Amino acid sequence: MAPETAAVQGDVQDGHGGSTARIAGFLHRAGAGHRRVPESWSGDLQFGVDLGTASIVLCAVDADNEPAWWDSRSVQAVRDGVVVDFAGAVAATRELVDEAEETLGVRVSHAATAAPPGVPVSDRRACHYVVEQAGVECRGVNDEISAAQEILGVVDGAIVDVGGGSTGVGVYRNRELVSLTDLPGGGHHLDLILAGALGISIEEAEEAKRTDGAAHLGVLKAGVERIAESIRSQCSGVDPGPVHLAGGALLLAGADEIVADRLGWRTVSYPNAHLITPFGIARSFAAGTADGGTGDR
Ligand SMILES: Nc1ncnc2c1ncn2[C@@H]1O[C@H](COP(=O)(O)OP(=O)(O)OP(=O)(O)O)[C@@H](O)[C@H]1O
Ligand SMILES: [Mg+2]
Repeated sequence: MAPETAAVQGDVQDGHGGSTARIAGFLHRAGAGHRRVPESWSGDLQFGVDLGTASIVLCAVDADNEPAWWDSRSVQAVRDGVVVDFAGAVAATRELVDEAEETLGVRVSHAATAAPPGVPVSDRRACHYVVEQAGVECRGVNDEISAAQEILGVVDGAIVDVGGGSTGVGVYRNRELVSLTDLPGGGHHLDLILAGALGISIEEAEEAKRTDGAAHLGVLKAGVERIAESIRSQCSGVDPGPVHLAGGALLLAGADEIVADRLGWRTVSYPNAHLITPFGIARSFAAGTADGGTGDR
């Protein structure tokens, strides 16, 4: 089964709370706004910090929920929501904040953050403290799937977030989250497969995967199929309705087709899918859905 690709022109699906064209448009504008000051924005900016395994992302939406800023640092200070290098995570976050403040000319006084589903409260607290130690008031720790839902607005179906380290899955029924899980397996594992197969370093594999992914799809197919099987098992083997693909790992050229084919379920892929969760984190705060504390959401 071929994946449906959300495009700015033309909706590709039904059973969805929002318009996929509108979401694709948002993600296009978000992608174009990398470290770029918008010509104008409305109201106060709402910031989000995504403490990811592959990178830490700071992004902002304005009062109309329009993308206003994003920037990232490739640091391996957080692994699947667990802060493994607290000082490194704080330094990267502070750097992102300083640069945003300087370039945008606004103060980043508060921000929401998120952790993968199922992360213990102590680790969620650590995420909260990273933000606070960077000099920003942390207004809440959302879970990554609920953050992505802020962008995708799924009514019936599943959100899948395949990041660097893990694959999170949330199933929605009538907009309500009915199951939320997370298992190891993501883009980093694809790097390991490619590095092993080609006899190159993990860093070289990461570069090769991003710049010439299609050429390496043969080697990576089994790894992508394993991600698809993780999605299936996290959906208890039952087709949940459209599966919306968020996260950077499935930006690998052709990966969405492999996942759709393997699952045999309807899937929807998005441009700049790596920005869905970070911008959703920024919106979490805007929508008041974050927990306002150290996080049991
Ligand atoms: N164009 C691309 N082609 C292939 N892979 C990509 C591309 N862009 C990003 N990736 C991969 O996506 C992964 C990072 O995705 P993402 O930014 O969603 O992860 P993260 O949020 O840091 O991690 P996690 O959510 O697991 O903690 C990396 O493994 C990276 O190699
Ligand atoms: Mg992530």
